[in-house]
Amino acid sequence: MIRAKITGIGMHVPPRVITNHDLEKILDTSDEWITTRTGIKERRIAEEWEKASDLALPAAEEAIKNAGLTSKDIDAVIVATSTPDMTFPSTACFLSDKLGCSKPMAFDISAACSGFIYGLTVGNSFILSGQFKNVLVVGAEVFSRIIDWNDRSTAVIFGDGAGAVVLSKADGDRGILSAAMKSDGSHWGSLYCPVGEKLRMRGRETFKLAIKSMETASKKALNKAGIDLEKISLVIPHQANIRIINALAERLELPEEKVFSNIHKYGNTSAASIPIAMYEAYKEKKFKEGDYILLTAFGGGLTWGAVVLKF
Ligand code: COA
Repeated sequence: MIRAKITGIGMHVPPRVITNHDLEKILDTSDEWITTRTGIKERRIAEEWEKASDLALPAAEEAIKNAGLTSKDIDAVIVATSTPDMTFPSTACFLSDKLGCSKPMAFDISAACSGFIYGLTVGNSFILSGQFKNVLVVGAEVFSRIIDWNDRSTAVIFGDGAGAVVLSKADGDRGILSAAMKSDGSHWGSLYCPVGEKLRMRGRETFKLAIKSMETASKKALNKAGIDLEKISLVIPHQANIRIINALAERLELPEEKVFSNIHKYGNTSAASIPIAMYEAYKEKKFKEGDYILLTAFGGGLTWGAVVLKF
Protein backbone atom coordinates (compact mmCIF):
# COMPACT_ATOMS: atom_id res chain seq x y z
CA MET A 1 0.00 0.00 0.00
CA ILE A 2 1.42 3.40 -1.01
CA ARG A 3 1.34 5.98 1.77
CA ALA A 4 2.70 9.49 2.42
CA LYS A 5 4.96 8.98 5.39
CA ILE A 6 6.65 11.61 7.56
CA THR A 7 10.34 10.89 7.09
CA GLY A 8 11.81 14.00 8.69
CA ILE A 9 10.80 16.77 11.13
CA GLY A 10 12.45 20.09 11.98
CA MET A 11 11.66 23.23 13.91
CA HIS A 12 13.08 26.66 14.52
CA VAL A 13 12.07 29.50 16.83
CA PRO A 14 13.79 32.88 17.01
CA PRO A 15 15.99 33.20 20.13
CA ARG A 16 14.36 36.37 21.51
CA VAL A 17 12.03 35.47 24.42
CA ILE A 18 9.24 37.79 25.59
CA THR A 19 7.90 36.68 28.98
CA ASN A 20 4.59 37.58 30.58
CA HIS A 21 6.56 39.79 32.96
CA ASP A 22 7.98 41.67 29.95
CA LEU A 23 4.41 42.25 28.73
CA GLU A 24 3.37 43.53 32.17
CA LYS A 25 5.70 46.47 31.51
CA ILE A 26 3.99 47.54 28.27
CA LEU A 27 0.37 46.43 28.75
CA ASP A 28 -2.29 46.51 31.46
CA THR A 29 -1.95 42.76 32.10
CA SER A 30 -0.36 40.33 34.54
CA ASP A 31 1.52 37.06 34.48
CA GLU A 32 -1.26 35.63 36.65
CA TRP A 33 -4.02 36.62 34.15
CA ILE A 34 -2.14 35.31 31.12
CA THR A 35 -1.12 32.06 32.81
CA THR A 36 -4.54 31.18 34.19
CA ARG A 37 -6.51 32.22 31.08
CA THR A 38 -4.16 30.80 28.43
CA GLY A 39 -1.36 28.64 29.93
CA ILE A 40 1.23 30.83 28.17
CA LYS A 41 4.36 31.91 30.08
CA GLU A 42 6.51 33.19 27.24
CA ARG A 43 6.70 33.43 23.45
CA ARG A 44 9.43 33.95 20.82
CA ILE A 45 9.59 37.09 18.71
CA ALA A 46 11.47 37.43 15.42
CA GLU A 47 13.99 40.18 14.78
CA GLU A 48 12.91 42.98 12.48
CA TRP A 49 14.83 41.55 9.53
CA GLU A 50 13.47 38.02 9.96
CA LYS A 51 10.68 36.96 7.63
CA ALA A 52 8.61 33.77 7.60
CA SER A 53 11.00 32.17 5.07
CA ASP A 54 13.98 32.97 7.35
CA LEU A 55 12.33 31.11 10.24
CA ALA A 56 11.28 28.31 7.90
CA LEU A 57 14.77 27.74 6.49
CA PRO A 58 16.48 26.05 9.49
CA ALA A 59 13.31 24.04 10.23
CA ALA A 60 13.15 22.82 6.63
CA GLU A 61 16.87 22.05 6.49
CA GLU A 62 16.59 19.92 9.62
CA ALA A 63 13.53 18.06 8.31
CA ILE A 64 15.24 17.33 4.97
CA LYS A 65 18.40 16.14 6.73
CA ASN A 66 16.42 13.91 9.10
CA ALA A 67 14.67 12.40 6.10
CA GLY A 68 18.08 11.43 4.72
CA LEU A 69 17.49 13.63 1.68
CA THR A 70 18.94 16.78 0.16
CA SER A 71 17.02 19.83 -1.02
CA LYS A 72 17.44 18.55 -4.60
CA ASP A 73 15.14 15.61 -3.76
CA ILE A 74 12.19 17.86 -2.86
CA ASP A 75 9.51 17.87 -5.57
CA ALA A 76 7.10 20.32 -3.94
CA VAL A 77 7.36 22.98 -1.23
CA ILE A 78 4.17 23.95 0.60
CA VAL A 79 4.32 26.74 3.18
CA ALA A 80 1.32 27.34 5.41
CA THR A 81 1.42 30.92 6.62
CA SER A 82 -0.78 33.93 7.33
CA THR A 83 2.27 36.16 7.62
CA PRO A 84 4.02 35.64 4.27
CA ASP A 85 7.23 37.43 3.26
CA MET A 86 5.25 39.21 0.53
CA THR A 87 1.77 39.02 -1.01
CA PHE A 88 3.64 37.41 -3.87
CA PRO A 89 5.98 35.70 -4.64
CA SER A 90 4.93 33.00 -2.21
CA THR A 91 6.99 32.34 0.90
CA ALA A 92 7.42 28.82 -0.52
CA CYS A 93 9.25 30.29 -3.56
CA PHE A 94 11.60 32.24 -1.27
CA LEU A 95 12.14 29.18 0.89
CA SER A 96 12.86 26.80 -1.99
CA ASP A 97 15.39 29.28 -3.37
CA LYS A 98 17.10 29.60 0.05
CA LEU A 99 17.17 25.82 0.37
CA GLY A 100 18.72 25.42 -3.09
CA CYS A 101 15.91 23.17 -4.34
CA SER A 102 15.76 22.13 -8.00
CA LYS A 103 12.83 24.27 -9.11
CA PRO A 104 10.07 22.41 -7.26
CA MET A 105 6.38 23.24 -7.38
CA ALA A 106 6.09 25.85 -4.62
CA PHE A 107 3.10 27.63 -3.14
CA ASP A 108 1.62 28.95 0.09
CA ILE A 109 -1.50 27.83 1.89
CA SER A 110 -3.68 30.38 3.63
CA ALA A 111 -5.78 28.56 6.21
CA ALA A 112 -4.63 30.43 9.34
CA CYS A 113 -3.89 28.11 12.27
CA SER A 114 -5.18 25.05 10.36
CA GLY A 115 -2.69 25.72 7.56
CA PHE A 116 -0.21 23.02 8.46
CA ILE A 117 -2.73 20.19 8.52
CA TYR A 118 -4.32 21.54 5.33
CA GLY A 119 -0.79 21.40 3.87
CA LEU A 120 -0.30 17.82 5.02
CA THR A 121 -3.55 16.85 3.32
CA VAL A 122 -2.51 18.47 0.04
CA GLY A 123 0.97 16.88 0.24
CA ASN A 124 -0.64 13.51 0.93
CA SER A 125 -2.80 13.82 -2.18
CA PHE A 126 0.20 14.71 -4.35
CA ILE A 127 1.99 11.59 -3.18
CA LEU A 128 -0.98 9.23 -3.41
CA SER A 129 -1.72 10.46 -6.95
CA GLY A 130 1.81 9.50 -7.97
CA GLN A 131 2.68 13.07 -8.91
CA PHE A 132 5.49 13.57 -6.40
CA LYS A 133 7.81 11.49 -4.21
CA ASN A 134 8.97 14.01 -1.60
CA VAL A 135 6.93 16.99 -0.43
CA LEU A 136 8.15 19.54 2.11
CA VAL A 137 5.30 20.89 4.27
CA VAL A 138 6.12 23.88 6.46
CA GLY A 139 4.21 26.06 8.90
CA ALA A 140 6.00 29.40 9.39
CA GLU A 141 4.71 32.52 11.07
CA VAL A 142 5.77 35.96 12.24
CA PHE A 143 2.53 36.91 13.97
CA SER A 144 4.42 39.61 15.89
CA ARG A 145 4.07 41.65 12.64
CA ILE A 146 0.26 41.59 12.64
CA ILE A 147 -0.27 41.98 16.38
CA ASP A 148 -1.59 45.24 17.75
CA TRP A 149 0.85 45.59 20.65
CA ASN A 150 -1.63 47.94 22.37
CA ASP A 151 -4.37 45.28 22.42
CA ARG A 152 -3.87 43.18 25.55
CA SER A 153 -6.49 40.63 24.52
CA THR A 154 -4.43 39.46 21.50
CA ALA A 155 -0.84 40.63 22.13
CA VAL A 156 -0.35 38.14 24.97
CA ILE A 157 -1.43 35.12 22.91
CA PHE A 158 0.65 34.85 19.76
CA GLY A 159 4.31 34.10 18.98
CA ASP A 160 6.67 33.46 16.06
CA GLY A 161 8.23 30.21 14.86
CA ALA A 162 8.40 27.52 12.19
CA GLY A 163 8.08 23.76 11.90
CA ALA A 164 8.55 21.48 8.91
CA VAL A 165 8.09 17.89 7.82
CA VAL A 166 9.09 15.91 4.76
CA LEU A 167 6.35 13.65 3.40
CA SER A 168 7.75 10.82 1.31
CA LYS A 169 6.20 8.13 -0.81
CA ALA A 170 6.49 4.85 1.10
CA ASP A 171 5.30 1.30 0.75
CA GLY A 172 3.74 -0.17 3.89
CA ASP A 173 1.25 0.74 6.58
CA ARG A 174 2.98 3.81 8.01
CA GLY A 175 1.92 7.29 6.91
CA ILE A 176 -1.17 9.47 6.72
CA LEU A 177 -4.28 7.33 7.19
CA SER A 178 -7.08 9.86 7.05
CA ALA A 179 -7.95 13.53 7.05
CA ALA A 180 -11.12 15.48 7.80
CA MET A 181 -10.86 19.14 6.73
CA LYS A 182 -13.62 21.73 6.97
CA SER A 183 -14.27 25.46 6.73
CA ASP A 184 -17.10 27.89 7.42
CA GLY A 185 -16.61 31.39 6.06
CA SER A 186 -19.73 32.67 7.81
CA HIS A 187 -17.70 32.87 11.04
CA TRP A 188 -14.91 34.93 9.48
CA GLY A 189 -15.53 37.80 11.92
CA SER A 190 -14.41 35.85 14.98
CA LEU A 191 -10.76 35.99 13.94
CA TYR A 192 -9.38 37.96 11.00
CA CYS A 193 -6.72 40.31 9.73
CA PRO A 194 -7.58 42.79 6.94
CA VAL A 195 -4.78 43.34 4.37
CA GLY A 196 -2.20 45.76 5.76
CA GLU A 197 -3.91 45.96 9.15
CA LYS A 198 -3.68 44.17 12.49
CA LEU A 199 -5.28 40.95 13.74
CA ARG A 200 -8.69 41.15 15.39
CA MET A 201 -10.34 38.48 17.48
CA ARG A 202 -13.52 37.78 19.40
CA GLY A 203 -11.92 35.58 22.02
CA ARG A 204 -14.91 33.97 23.72
CA GLU A 205 -16.60 33.08 20.44
CA THR A 206 -13.38 31.58 19.05
CA PHE A 207 -12.89 29.61 22.25
CA LYS A 208 -16.19 27.77 21.98
CA LEU A 209 -15.94 27.15 18.24
CA ALA A 210 -12.41 25.78 18.68
CA ILE A 211 -13.35 23.04 21.10
CA LYS A 212 -16.39 21.87 19.18
CA SER A 213 -14.71 21.92 15.77
CA MET A 214 -11.61 20.00 16.89
CA GLU A 215 -13.71 17.42 18.71
CA THR A 216 -15.92 16.82 15.65
CA ALA A 217 -13.01 16.69 13.20
CA SER A 218 -11.00 14.34 15.44
CA LYS A 219 -13.87 11.88 15.66
CA LYS A 220 -14.46 12.08 11.91
CA ALA A 221 -10.80 11.47 11.04
CA LEU A 222 -10.62 8.52 13.46
CA ASN A 223 -13.75 7.09 11.95
CA LYS A 224 -12.39 7.45 8.41
CA ALA A 225 -9.15 5.74 9.43
CA GLY A 226 -11.04 2.97 11.22
CA ILE A 227 -8.92 3.58 14.33
CA ASP A 228 -10.30 3.63 17.87
CA LEU A 229 -9.23 6.53 20.06
CA GLU A 230 -7.70 4.04 22.53
CA LYS A 231 -5.14 3.12 19.85
CA ILE A 232 -3.89 6.71 19.58
CA SER A 233 -0.62 7.23 21.48
CA LEU A 234 -0.78 11.01 21.41
CA VAL A 235 -3.12 13.78 20.31
CA ILE A 236 -1.24 16.88 19.12
CA PRO A 237 -3.68 19.76 18.97
CA HIS A 238 -3.10 23.30 17.72
CA GLN A 239 -1.58 25.23 20.62
CA ALA A 240 -4.06 28.08 21.08
CA ASN A 241 -4.97 27.99 24.76
CA ILE A 242 -4.34 25.37 27.46
CA ARG A 243 -7.98 25.61 28.50
CA ILE A 244 -9.06 24.74 24.94
CA ILE A 245 -6.61 21.80 24.94
CA ASN A 246 -7.85 20.54 28.31
CA ALA A 247 -11.49 20.92 27.28
CA LEU A 248 -10.76 18.92 24.12
CA ALA A 249 -9.13 16.18 26.22
CA GLU A 250 -12.22 16.11 28.41
CA ARG A 251 -14.62 15.94 25.44
CA LEU A 252 -12.61 13.10 23.91
CA GLU A 253 -12.42 11.44 27.35
CA LEU A 254 -8.66 11.28 27.16
CA PRO A 255 -6.25 11.64 30.08
CA GLU A 256 -4.37 14.95 29.86
CA GLU A 257 -1.02 13.18 29.38
CA LYS A 258 -2.26 11.81 26.06
CA VAL A 259 -2.77 15.36 24.74
CA PHE A 260 0.47 17.21 24.09
CA SER A 261 1.07 20.84 24.98
CA ASN A 262 4.07 23.16 24.84
CA ILE A 263 2.03 26.38 24.72
CA HIS A 264 3.73 27.69 27.89
CA LYS A 265 6.95 28.15 25.88
CA TYR A 266 5.75 29.52 22.55
CA GLY A 267 2.18 30.80 22.81
CA ASN A 268 0.08 30.38 19.68
CA THR A 269 2.39 30.18 16.64
CA SER A 270 -0.57 29.63 14.28
CA ALA A 271 0.36 27.35 11.35
CA ALA A 272 3.70 26.54 12.99
CA SER A 273 2.23 25.25 16.24
CA ILE A 274 1.48 21.64 15.25
CA PRO A 275 4.84 20.86 13.58
CA ILE A 276 6.69 22.52 16.49
CA ALA A 277 4.64 20.50 18.99
CA MET A 278 5.10 17.30 16.97
CA TYR A 279 8.86 17.87 16.87
CA GLU A 280 9.12 18.40 20.63
CA ALA A 281 6.78 15.52 21.47
CA TYR A 282 8.89 13.19 19.32
CA LYS A 283 12.14 14.39 20.92
CA GLU A 284 10.56 13.91 24.36
CA LYS A 285 9.66 10.33 23.31
CA LYS A 286 5.92 10.91 23.74
CA PHE A 287 5.48 8.77 20.63
CA LYS A 288 7.72 6.67 18.41
CA GLU A 289 7.86 5.10 14.96
CA GLY A 290 4.82 2.92 14.36
CA ASP A 291 2.58 4.76 16.86
CA TYR A 292 -0.77 6.22 15.85
CA ILE A 293 -1.08 9.98 16.39
CA LEU A 294 -3.88 12.44 15.86
CA LEU A 295 -3.31 16.06 14.82
CA THR A 296 -6.14 18.57 15.07
CA ALA A 297 -6.37 22.30 14.47
CA PHE A 298 -8.74 25.21 14.01
CA GLY A 299 -8.22 28.79 12.98
CA GLY A 300 -9.44 31.90 11.22
CA GLY A 301 -11.74 31.26 8.32
CA LEU A 302 -13.04 29.45 10.14
CA THR A 303 -10.98 26.47 9.11
CA TRP A 304 -10.51 23.27 11.06
CA GLY A 305 -9.64 19.64 10.68
CA ALA A 306 -7.83 16.55 11.89
CA VAL A 307 -5.33 14.05 10.52
CA VAL A 308 -4.69 10.51 11.74
CA LEU A 309 -1.35 8.97 10.93
CA LYS A 310 0.82 6.02 11.76
CA PHE A 311 4.18 7.63 12.41
N1 COA B 1 -4.76 40.92 30.75
C1 COA B 1 -5.66 41.28 31.67
N2 COA B 1 -6.97 41.36 31.42
C2 COA B 1 -7.37 41.08 30.17
C3 COA B 1 -6.48 40.70 29.16
C4 COA B 1 -5.12 40.63 29.49
N3 COA B 1 -4.18 40.27 28.60
N4 COA B 1 -7.18 40.47 28.03
C5 COA B 1 -8.47 40.69 28.31
N5 COA B 1 -8.60 41.05 29.61
C6 COA B 1 -9.80 41.37 30.35
C7 COA B 1 -10.94 41.79 29.47
O1 COA B 1 -10.85 43.15 29.16
C8 COA B 1 -12.13 41.47 30.35
O2 COA B 1 -12.27 42.52 31.28
P1 COA B 1 -13.75 42.99 31.75
O3 COA B 1 -14.33 41.79 32.42
O4 COA B 1 -13.43 44.12 32.69
O5 COA B 1 -14.44 43.40 30.52
C9 COA B 1 -11.69 40.24 31.13
O6 COA B 1 -10.26 40.20 31.02
C10 COA B 1 -12.28 38.95 30.60
O7 COA B 1 -12.13 38.97 29.20
P2 COA B 1 -12.62 37.79 28.29
O8 COA B 1 -12.28 38.08 26.87
O9 COA B 1 -14.03 37.45 28.62
O10 COA B 1 -11.68 36.62 28.86
P3 COA B 1 -11.69 35.10 28.52
O11 COA B 1 -11.76 34.30 29.73
O12 COA B 1 -12.61 34.76 27.39
O13 COA B 1 -10.19 34.90 27.97
C11 COA B 1 -9.02 34.70 25.89
C12 COA B 1 -9.77 35.62 26.84
C13 COA B 1 -8.63 35.48 24.66
C14 COA B 1 -7.79 34.19 26.60
C15 COA B 1 -9.92 33.49 25.53
O14 COA B 1 -11.19 33.94 25.16
C16 COA B 1 -9.36 32.67 24.41
O15 COA B 1 -8.31 32.09 24.54
N6 COA B 1 -10.09 32.55 23.29
C17 COA B 1 -9.63 31.80 22.17
C18 COA B 1 -8.64 32.61 21.40
C19 COA B 1 -7.86 31.77 20.45
O16 COA B 1 -7.60 30.64 20.70
N7 COA B 1 -7.49 32.38 19.34
C20 COA B 1 -6.68 31.76 18.36
C21 COA B 1 -7.49 30.87 17.51
S1 COA B 1 -6.47 30.01 16.42
